[in-house]
Amino acid sequence: MILPLAVLVIIGTVSGLDNGLARTPPMGWMSWQRFRCIIDCENQPKDCISERLFMDMADRLVDDGYAAVGYKYVNIDDCWSSKERDGEGRLQADPKRFPNGMKTLADYVHNKSLKLGIYGDFGTYTCGGYPGSKFYMQSDAQTFASWGIDSLKLDGCYTGTGDIPIGYPIMEEFLNSTGRPILYSCSWPAYLQKPNYQNIAASCNIWRNYGDIQDSWDSVVSIINFYGKDSGNFSSVAGPGNFNDPDMLIIGNFGLSYEQQRVQMAMWSILAAPLLMSNDLRLIRKESRELLQNKGAISINQDPLGIQGKLIATMGKIQIWNKPITPVGNFAFAILNLGDGGPGSLISVKGATLGLMASQGYNITDAFTGEFVTVIKPSSYFNLTVVPSGVFLGKAYLNTMS
Ligand SMILES: *[C@@H]1O[C@H](CO)[C@@H](O)[C@H](O)[C@H]1NC(C)=O
Ligand SMILES: *[C@@H]1O[C@H](CO)[C@@H](O)[C@H](O)[C@H]1NC(C)=O
Ligand SMILES: *[C@@H]1O[C@H](CO)[C@@H](O)[C@H](O)[C@H]1NC(C)=O
Repeated sequence: MILPLAVLVIIGTVSGLDNGLARTPPMGWMSWQRFRCIIDCENQPKDCISERLFMDMADRLVDDGYAAVGYKYVNIDDCWSSKERDGEGRLQADPKRFPNGMKTLADYVHNKSLKLGIYGDFGTYTCGGYPGSKFYMQSDAQTFASWGIDSLKLDGCYTGTGDIPIGYPIMEEFLNSTGRPILYSCSWPAYLQKPNYQNIAASCNIWRNYGDIQDSWDSVVSIINFYGKDSGNFSSVAGPGNFNDPDMLIIGNFGLSYEQQRVQMAMWSILAAPLLMSNDLRLIRKESRELLQNKGAISINQDPLGIQGKLIATMGKIQIWNKPITPVGNFAFAILNLGDGGPGSLISVKGATLGLMASQGYNITDAFTGEFVTVIKPSSYFNLTVVPSGVFLGKAYLNTMS
């Protein structure tokens, strides 16, 4: 019964880009949401986009336990480069803010067993107004490879949208021909009305399909609802090597309550989303750090099946999400309360409504704590209270005892 399903899953992902990378969603840190395009290092020396910032974050990833649970990428976003290409048309890092150059920064990061990501743009300029890769794609791919770059986020500002479906695959070929495995993050679908997700998955490891995340609960909810709608069935192309990217984790910043931070961690795990933190790891609170390092949530996110969870039921302000996990036949699920009042909602939900259909029933654990909660069958009820803008993240393992 189970085997044909597994075979289907494998066949379904054959056409995706396979460069050996992102077999599970990539994890790491990225500068944009927290540090934007701050380039004034005189007045904001600790916050400006500079080699110091990325070395600091590499240090924190390793010394504070993030790398040990999987956060390996240190990703530079926009505003790192000089406004001018060099005499041979190559991109160059801003000489004041990266005085030792990108190769040295990559060496520093690699020496800590981490990986270095960089940012470019398919158009004539980056969104921040720095040189874009249009007309320079081969040269830029080679420059990135020569520095030892491990990941490229290619944005889509300053180009006609008609060029996007043609241009992104060309960059993938140039990256491939460098011979260096470089994880390819495309902003391709985020710029189009009706993206062709099959083609995107054939060229990209991960891809942004919605607007930039902001440091607010509204922003997180709008992303969750976009993923709930799943327009164009984009969840179906996710799998090992290829993932939809709902954008950075903002846990540890200013905009989310503790419960809302739990929601982002739970939902990004259910969505098999890249876990790219954009926060200040030098200043983060213990509770946020523990959430980001929660092994139960991370195990759901990193499950080797790589299946993106889906919204399977909505009851007023309550959403039920389900994600198949290994061993095949088991599930993670989220009961999300988007309500905004009172002490919490009493919820009584059938096993079948959670997507749990096997008659022998399931052992339910709280994924964040690892604690056993109850046993439920398809027709029995799971009763719990979920606080406003809060979540229950569960794991359901087939009951093999009966
Ligand atoms: C690599 O790190 C070690 C300490 O962990 C240090 O002694 C060594 O100098 C570093 N090498 C480079 C090239 O940065
Ligand atoms: C280049 O593409 C081939 C074919 O998909 C793949 O096997 C190989 O791993 C890729 N190499 C790099 C460096 O991405
Ligand atoms: C979405 O894709 C899956 C897997 O390819 C398929 O089984 C399902 O029918 C599709 N759903 C819609 C609404 O197109």
